[in-house]
Parts: sequence; structure tokens; C-alpha cells
Amino acid sequence: MSDIEVFKRQAAEHALDHVQSNTRIGLGSGSTARHMLHGLAERLADGRLENVVGVPTSEATADLARQLGIPLTTLDDCPELACTLDGADEIDPQMNLIKGLGGALLREKIVAASAERFFVLVDSSKLVMQLGERTGVPIEVIPFAQTLCMQRLRDLGCQPKLRQNDDGTPFCTDEGNVILDCRFVKIADPDALNVTIMSIPGVVDHGLFLGMTTTAFIAGSTGITIMTHSK
Ligand code: A5P
Repeated sequence: MSDIEVFKRQAAEHALDHVQSNTRIGLGSGSTARHMLHGLAERLADGRLENVVGVPTSEATADLARQLGIPLTTLDDCPELACTLDGADEIDPQMNLIKGLGGALLREKIVAASAERFFVLVDSSKLVMQLGERTGVPIEVIPFAQTLCMQRLRDLGCQPKLRQNDDGTPFCTDEGNVILDCRFVKIADPDALNVTIMSIPGVVDHGLFLGMTTTAFIAGSTGITIMTHSK
């Protein structure tokens, strides 16, 4: 396993230490979340955790959870979760995030918002001083509004790129939408950008997760750093 994968696994294990038996939890998506699913399955199998049921944030997470024997439920049946555990693409000093490089940002944000606590698990390469340093902001839009949204986003100073599959077809989210990846030169005011993006007709949501993180578990070569504030 590469160092990065070891760090992801360590972040996931530390976050899992904060999960309690007899709870309903949100299950994130992406490679770090996959480590978390394996760790959760192990804890359920060896009895360290009992009666933990998950709400998956993507079809991919649901598939892996089923393979690992993790019991699942839905947000309809269980709209109030004890915690959600998920990865991130960037995290700033205020624990604001960019998420969605895996394409599951919409369900991820909904499930995170349904939880009492939102645990973010990352390796230290995801740390940034300002959001947007490493990645663009994924913006999920309904296909009908794709051209209009691209135009409006261009007016904000970015060059939206329609996310594509390897074969060149448009990437389609679990909710049947498309994603526009938008690289901004600088995101000096993420809250203002959130309001501006959400005011564009056809935008469903975006990958800025602002003021949502309760605790971040950041694993790197110097060990684990835990950042926290009450939600
Ligand atoms: C999935 O849509 C994303 O939000 C992921 O949570 C994010 O991209 C982090 O993924 P990795 O853990 O694979 O870096």
C-alpha cells in the first residue's frame, strides 16, 4: 500500500473510533471512504461495533457496503443520522471543503446535512490555505440547463468543463445530472461564491461544503491531526 493509502486508512480508522454502536450513519464516497467501509465491516464482524446501519452517498458505496455485509437503510427511513464519515478533495483551515471529484457531491451534501456530526477523513495532501488551490469546484447541473449554466459560470471568470467518461460521453451522476468542473483563479470568499453559484437556474448543487465539518481527521507523515468544532 502506498503512503497516501496508508494515511487514508489511518484517517478512516481514527474517525471510526468515534462511531458508536446502535447508530445510523452516513457512508461517504471515494477512495478514503472505501477504507472507512472496510474498517467498519471489520468492526461489525469482530464485535467492536454492533447494530450500525448506513445510508450510502452513492450507488458505488452502496454496492461495496453490500459486498462487505454492512447493513444499509435509506434517508427516507432514517432522515436523522448520528454522524457521516466522508473524504474530501480539499480542506482549508476553517474546515471548509471542496468535494465531488468522485461525482457524488449532491447525495454527499444531503447525507452530511442529515447528520448530527460530519467527520471528514483526509490525508494531509488535501490541506490547502485557500479553497481552489488544487482543484476546481464541481458543479452539478440538470442536463437541460447545461449550456445556460456554462455561460453564466463563464461570466464568473472560470472555464467550465463538462466532466466526461473515458469514452468521451458526459459523466452522469447518480441523480441523472451532469457535472461542470470549474477552476476559479482564487476563491477569496467561498460563502459569496456559494450564493452566486446557487442563484444560477439549473444548478442543483456544488462541491463547496461550507461550515459543515464537525471534525477533520488528517493523516500524514507526522501522524494524525484532529481538528474540531461543535456543530
Ligand atoms: C466523491 O464525490 C468525493 O466527494 C470524494 O469524497 C472526494 O473526491 C474524496 O475522494 P478521495 O477520498 O478518493 O480522495
